[in-house]
Amino acid sequence: MIRGTATSPEKDEPATLQVAANGFEPIARVDFDRARDLIQSRRHVGPRWLVDPGPNSDQLEELLWLAAAAPDHGRLIPWRFVLVPAESRHLLGRAFALALLDRDPGASEEQLVTAREKADRAPVLLVAIACTVSDRADVPPVDQLVSLGAAIQNIQLGAVAMGFSVGLSSGRAMDSMHVRSLFELAESERAICCISIGRSVKSNGVGRVRPNVDVRSLPPPPLSSLRCTTSSRLLALGSSDWRSAAPNAARSARRPIRPIPLMPTFITLI
Ligand SMILES: Cc1cc2nc3c(=O)[nH]c(=O)nc-3n(C[C@H](O)[C@H](O)[C@H](O)COP(=O)(O)O)c2cc1C
Repeated sequence: MIRGTATSPEKDEPATLQVAANGFEPIARVDFDRARDLIQSRRHVGPRWLVDPGPNSDQLEELLWLAAAAPDHGRLIPWRFVLVPAESRHLLGRAFALALLDRDPGASEEQLVTAREKADRAPVLLVAIACTVSDRADVPPVDQLVSLGAAIQNIQLGAVAMGFSVGLSSGRAMDSMHVRSLFELAESERAICCISIGRSVKSNGVGRVRPNVDVRSLPPPPLSSLRCTTSSRLLALGSSDWRSAAPNAARSARRPIRPIPLMPTFITLI
């Protein structure tokens, strides 16, 4: 495992690189089943169902280390997180209520109370903030948002691995001037969503049926444009229909994929 600035218990000095002696591959293979079960067991749990205890400060730090492991094109670190501790939740609740009043000046007292309560629901609440830059043609903002999504997902999966449940919530208030000013957002920044973490008091249920992932192989180009070679430049265009071998193939048959014949392994486009 690689850690950033973890402290080595023996030497009390930063153990910056703790790579498993046998490298990454065996770890990934041994842990795949557990990783798959973990990933598939994650589901959104609304903040109202999340109660104490949430992650403690050490666990929270671990989760933020996971966020830092997200892929980051250009290494721009185009996101940050703000922890809203219990004693500051009323400020976020107030911002939510003011945002509602801006949108609907006739909002009832009950609606305003509900808006305020949204900030006060889970033991731990992080706000994910996108800090994208637009002056990097090679790293468009959408790449940067993908990085934020990956960071959020890392936090979610880490929290689930610790036994917590997680809910994401966004909503129109996130873009309001009240939320923006509370978090002192720069013009280029945007509050994307709240990440609520705690213990779920909701029955896990069966969860939603996961969607069919739409993935197809490129159709093979006409043979006249290809020359078979033993070159090591590999362009794998063809594949067999992997879905037919998947365990839930029957359920995933929303749009059948036309089977594509296997192409020769080494192909170089002329
Ligand atoms: C950026 C983002 C914002 C979200 N905001 C909300 C929200 O405001 N309210 C809500 O009920 N769910 C919200 N969700 C959670 C989705 O509703 C949830 O992921 C979806 O229903 C799929 O369920 P699953 O996460 O259990 O697979 C959000 C998810 C994402 C990725």
